[in-house]
Amino acid sequence: MTKSGHHASPAGPTWIKGQDAWRTISPPSNPANQLEYYLLLPLAFLRPCAQESFAVKLGFTNSAGNKTSHTQGMANEDILTILEQRLALLDARQRLGIGKDHQSQLFDRLEKLAWSPILIRTILRTMGLYRRGISNAAKVTLRHNYIVSAHLPKAFDGFDIVQLSDLHVEMNAAAMERVVDLLGEAHFDVCVLTGDYRGGTNGRYDTTLAGMARVRESLKGPIYGVLGDHDTICMVPGLEAMGIRILLNESVIIERSSQRIHLGGIGDAHFQGMENIEKAAAAIPHDEFSILISHTPEVYRQAAHVGFNVLLSGHTHGGQICLPGGIPITLNSALPRSMGSGAWKYHGMIGYTSVGAGSSIIPVRFNCPPEITLHHLHVSS
Ligand SMILES: [Fe+2]
Repeated sequence: MTKSGHHASPAGPTWIKGQDAWRTISPPSNPANQLEYYLLLPLAFLRPCAQESFAVKLGFTNSAGNKTSHTQGMANEDILTILEQRLALLDARQRLGIGKDHQSQLFDRLEKLAWSPILIRTILRTMGLYRRGISNAAKVTLRHNYIVSAHLPKAFDGFDIVQLSDLHVEMNAAAMERVVDLLGEAHFDVCVLTGDYRGGTNGRYDTTLAGMARVRESLKGPIYGVLGDHDTICMVPGLEAMGIRILLNESVIIERSSQRIHLGGIGDAHFQGMENIEKAAAAIPHDEFSILISHTPEVYRQAAHVGFNVLLSGHTHGGQICLPGGIPITLNSALPRSMGSGAWKYHGMIGYTSVGAGSSIIPVRFNCPPEITLHHLHVSS
């Protein structure tokens, strides 16, 4: 039985290649879900590790109705100068260099696997599932999560944090409009963004920044973020110019009624290897309540043992294309599947993995509704 309550049916299991090893999946016992299971099953044999390099340019505009250019036109030297104000020179050079290497490696992968999105799209169209997948991906929901801890300062009882993850803003305009609508109705004290603002993984990012500017208009209060494996350090000046403070292995203090908690954030640990949890935690007293934001939950061991009380993350998309019952075909992560979406615990650390509001590769979802998450903090009795 899986975390989602799925039982094996008499039809028996099928072996598929999981993240680290072969595993079995079984058709649902509910006959109504069995057709979709068998239609989606062939996708379990595709390993969609390439990211779409030709993200749809939907032309988000800023509030003045003009296309925004942000920092796209800047030379690396100009961006380096801005980043030097935020980081040590060598750190900035290292991040720019690794980002450049990252892009060239991805080009190699894309050349080999560029057919993946096309193939998946073709399969879904052939099966008559593509339009339903597009529609599913636009139905972003507001999901509530309760973080209850005895370590939380009393002043933060009732404190609300909204989390946006994996927006991939250029990929699905309808989903982003839904995000904006949901944010307009929600009440929260702080906003955290757990990365993957960009749809593609290389090239231009002006459309991404323009899309982020549109979402940012709906955000209230302090906004903190981290970069994901789709993002580039070159986006940091543009995001920070919007008032989104990107935590680059750093931490900040959040105060309320003379009490405080700490919020740390790290670079992408999934592909770019830019995380430094020790550095992010360096200024946090061990006995004070702390939250780490990371694009990927794969850092759960390090985060727990460094002493963070909470880890908020995304990256997995919850599988994005799941079998009935919410069973992910792949999580693109090295971690227990129980940590692939929603709330979980590891030792004393409270974890949450957002399935994200957007989608990557192709803008479809099955059995895995997109979300923005409202975390309600409470002191345990
Ligand atoms: Fe993502």
